[in-house]
Amino acid sequence: MTTSSPNWNKSSWQSRTALQQPNWPDRKKYDEVLSSLSLLPPLVFAGEIRELKKMLAKAVDGQAFLLQGGDCSEEFAGCTAPNIRETLKVLLQMAVILTYAGGKPVIKVGRIAGQYAKPRSSDTEMVNGVELPSYRGDMANSCLPDPVARIPDPERMLKGYFLSAATLNLLRAFTRGGFASLQRVHAWNQEFVKQSPMGRSYERLAKQLNQALNFMETIGISTDIPQLKEAQFFTSHEALFLGYEESLTREDSTTGGWYDCSAHMLWIGDRTRQIDGAHIEFLRGVLNPLGMKIGPKHDLDDILAIIERLNPDNEPGRITLITRFGSKTIDKYLPPLIRGVKKAGLQVVWCCDPMHANTFTSASGRKTRNFDEILSELRCFFELHWSEGTIPGGVHFELTGENVTECIGGARELADEHLNLNYLSTCDPRLNAEQSLEMAFQIAEMIRS
Ligand code: PEP
Ligand code: CO
Repeated sequence: MTTSSPNWNKSSWQSRTALQQPNWPDRKKYDEVLSSLSLLPPLVFAGEIRELKKMLAKAVDGQAFLLQGGDCSEEFAGCTAPNIRETLKVLLQMAVILTYAGGKPVIKVGRIAGQYAKPRSSDTEMVNGVELPSYRGDMANSCLPDPVARIPDPERMLKGYFLSAATLNLLRAFTRGGFASLQRVHAWNQEFVKQSPMGRSYERLAKQLNQALNFMETIGISTDIPQLKEAQFFTSHEALFLGYEESLTREDSTTGGWYDCSAHMLWIGDRTRQIDGAHIEFLRGVLNPLGMKIGPKHDLDDILAIIERLNPDNEPGRITLITRFGSKTIDKYLPPLIRGVKKAGLQVVWCCDPMHANTFTSASGRKTRNFDEILSELRCFFELHWSEGTIPGGVHFELTGENVTECIGGARELADEHLNLNYLSTCDPRLNAEQSLEMAFQIAEMIRS
């Protein structure tokens, strides 16, 4: 493996077209913010990034499974202890269910501690009949329906950096300090099974897990060991604002390679993966594991060329393909993609994002997603991979630990008229904690059978 890519440096993206960048009006302030950021400490350490890549390499051949999830768009105001704790908690709970059912380690990656930048389908949006510049995530502008609040402000990148640091600090404390112990997470799951209207159907699995834990205790395997008391948790976000990402890109003093130290894993959105575009140019040179979203509008040859550009050595763990085709069209788009990637011999983790192509506007005018459609895309994803002889290696969700009403369906049968009760997302609708756990139990049933 080479440590640096030919003709690359952390600024080489600047000679390419970068889509989806905020139109920063104050260039001087923008440059000042980026130079401050480039002097601040990295948020994550290159050794951790390498560790994640090693684990993802295992997911390529089915020895591990990726669980990635969190907000569509983190908000500055959402950087609070309860929010961070609840999101971590639900991901840990899902991970325990999937670990037990799948019989393999689950790699836990949050869309957290930096998921502050959003791509938009248009430069402007209509809010209450007024046309405003689009909200591009808290790191660019405010979502308030006010033309002045919508002007991109570079200081927000600095704030985003410090809030990412605060979030990461708490995540590290929770995962090392006993909060994430297997016994605790299991107790939360038992609580969920008791309280959920569908709890019964999950009882069997929860009971078996309980027996497994009791058995370990009985034969004298202490649960007071780091493997059971601590959790390994990684961060990720969409690598979108390239000035920010460049400023946090550092050369690792121990190995000489370049790492984007804003998060462990970065992904490329479906809208910014042009082969000659700035995003691909930037990402080809950093050694982080990379996700790539692939929606219905992709071209197979283009995807193969991008993978080759990003991973010329075909290193396993480097590339995760996050497909998001929609429950109704996954069977049309996924099989040809699988066959193309397989024929080219490319080492990838196959991951399903069952959220982004299942979004619709409800009769009451809310952007929502239906639990059954999300589940149906997941089911097709597993079945198609099994029938093609490839490995379904992971799942990617927009979710929160809060009790929101953003997606319809699930055991409580949330309906359109409930969406207004607690709709908090400023961007896409998320599964709430209960819906997320149900999803995990449903996947557990699929992967056990
Ligand atoms: C997202 O993950 O929030 C997103 C914008 O996804 P995509 O690039 O797949 O549309
Ligand atoms: Co989204």
